[in-house]
Amino acid sequence: MPKIHVTDWSGTEHVIEARPGTSLMEAIKHAGIADLAAICGGCCSCATCHVYVAEEWLGRLPAQEEDEYDLVSDTEVYRANSRLSCQIEVTDALEGLRVTIAPEE
Ligand code: FES
Repeated sequence: MPKIHVTDWSGTEHVIEARPGTSLMEAIKHAGIADLAAICGGCCSCATCHVYVAEEWLGRLPAQEEDEYDLVSDTEVYRANSRLSCQIEVTDALEGLRVTIAPEE
């Protein structure tokens, strides 16, 4: 299982193992990192699974769908490297991915 580096709101970095076929949001929740609310459960309707992707990974993730972009870009804490973690499927290609959980609005 790929190891993914997740930085929480306190700045602590967690190295989690993510099961391929699940979403990055599910992997972060499964690891017990409470800062990711993911209220809608992955339906792409809440934006509380918002993460910032490390610059070196931006071109290596599958492209954003329009509905993901519309939702995340409407948040006050949107950045160019914002993604919704429920919309990122875990694959072995994500080994070493680094993300930071975005602050609450
Ligand atoms: S969990 Fe709600 S948009 Fe990702």
